[in-house]
Amino acid sequence: MRQSLALAPSVLSADLGHLAEQVAAVVDAGAAWLHVDVMDGHFVPNLTFGAPVVRAVRAASSAYVDVHLMIEAPERWIDAYADAGADGITVHAEATPHAHRALRAIRERGLKAGLAVNPFTPLSALEVALDELDLALVMSVDPGFGGQPYIARSDERLRTVRGWIDERGLECRLQVDGGIDALTAPRAASAGADVLVAGTAVFAAPGGPAAGVARLLQSVSASTRPI
Ligand code: DX5
Ligand code: ZN
Repeated sequence: MRQSLALAPSVLSADLGHLAEQVAAVVDAGAAWLHVDVMDGHFVPNLTFGAPVVRAVRAASSAYVDVHLMIEAPERWIDAYADAGADGITVHAEATPHAHRALRAIRERGLKAGLAVNPFTPLSALEVALDELDLALVMSVDPGFGGQPYIARSDERLRTVRGWIDERGLECRLQVDGGIDALTAPRAASAGADVLVAGTAVFAAPGGPAAGVARLLQSVSASTRPI
């Protein structure tokens, strides 16, 4: 089932010294979700932040807090992120042989469960799990860093997953993450994405984060896909 489109600014690119103000600004400007990128320096080369930052984002807003775990064996950490106030947690298919266990643990805590795949991971990893997912994440860059260019063939991958979701009549959200800006956002939305993650295009936007949100929302309002 198609749902209204949500923009999820990634606080990876926020000014962490002014996190609460920046979060408030993007939500006031129309972002419905807040995306928190947790990286462990093992699953991805970069190291970011953990549950205390999720707690700070939770305290700064009542928007949906979307935690993207780029960590090995994420099943060890579900309770910590649930306790910190996440609304949804996404784990990577590549990060554990126990993705099913992790997803079940997320739902057992009453949260929305998401599964992510990297750009060269076969989409069958999502297809097999789709009936038990609240969110499918198609990475449109190699996870680990903000500011990378959108991988063009992600459009086709989004279309494939959107087709499965619609054929089966599922309510699963389809998220795209990486290189989303005012040019790629309408492409990804037309291909079926209904949650757009954007870091650089929001927090490094000329005019500031609120202007970045407005520009992205405007770019998709003209897209061919109903939002
Ligand atoms: C990348 C992260 C993204 C990142 C996106 O590993 O998962 O969420 O913040 O940043 P941009 O929008 O700059 O590509
Ligand atoms: Zn992310």
